Amino acid sequence: MAVQLGDIAPDFVQESTEGTIKFHDWIGDKWAVLFSHPKDFTPVCTTELGAVAKLKPEFEKRNVKVIGLSVDPVTDHRKWAQDIQDTQGAALNFPLLGDADKKVSNLYGMIHPNANDTLTVRSVFVIGPDKKVKLTITYPASTGRNFDEILRVIDSLQLTANHKVATPVNWKDGQDCIIVPSLSDEDAKKLFPKGWKALKPYLRVTPQPNR
Ligand code: BEZ
Repeated sequence: MAVQLGDIAPDFVQESTEGTIKFHDWIGDKWAVLFSHPKDFTPVCTTELGAVAKLKPEFEKRNVKVIGLSVDPVTDHRKWAQDIQDTQGAALNFPLLGDADKKVSNLYGMIHPNANDTLTVRSVFVIGPDKKVKLTITYPASTGRNFDEILRVIDSLQLTANHKVATPVNWKDGQDCIIVPSLSDEDAKKLFPKGWKALKPYLRVTPQPNR
C-alpha cells in the first residue's frame, strides 16, 4: 500500500551518516523532507546532493530538516561525500540513510519494480510536524529534481496550514492567493481585512495574508 497524503509517515530506525536515526524523534517538532536517490557514485545524484547541501539554509529558514536515502551502505555514503564536495563545491551537511537492507525503501514504496527492481526511484516526501505526509513526488532516475520547486511547495504548505487560502498555478511566496471556496463571503470578510477580487464567485483573489 503506497504512502499517501494525510497518512502518518511510517516511523523507522535506520543507520545514517550522522548515526542511528529514529525517524519521528529526529523530526521532532519540525517539518521534514525525506528523499531517495537511486545509487551512490552516480552523476545525477551527485549534483542533487550538492544542490540540497547548498540549499540547507533555505530549508532551515522554513524550519525543515532534510534527510536523503539510497540502498547503499553508510560506508559508501561517507566515501561518496568527498566526491560531492570535490565536484559540487558543497559538503554533505545533512544525514544520508544507508538503507542497504531496503527497510525504509520498502516501507515508503521507493522501489518501483517496473522501473528498476533493486534501486530506489527519486521519491520526495514532505512531512509536517504532526508527522503526516503533506506531499509526495516521484521522478525517474534519469531526471534530477528541482529543489527550488520543493521549497516553493513547502512555502505553500506552511501558508495554507495556517490560513484559509490555497495557492494558484506557479505561485511564489509573496504573491496573491485564493480564498478557499468553503469559506463564505461573510466569514472571509473577518479573515481577510485587505479584501479580495472576485473573478468568479468561487475564484476570490486576495493578497498573501501573512505579508
Ligand atoms: C544518476 O544519478 O546519474 C543515475 C542513477 C541511476 C540511473 C541513472 C542515473
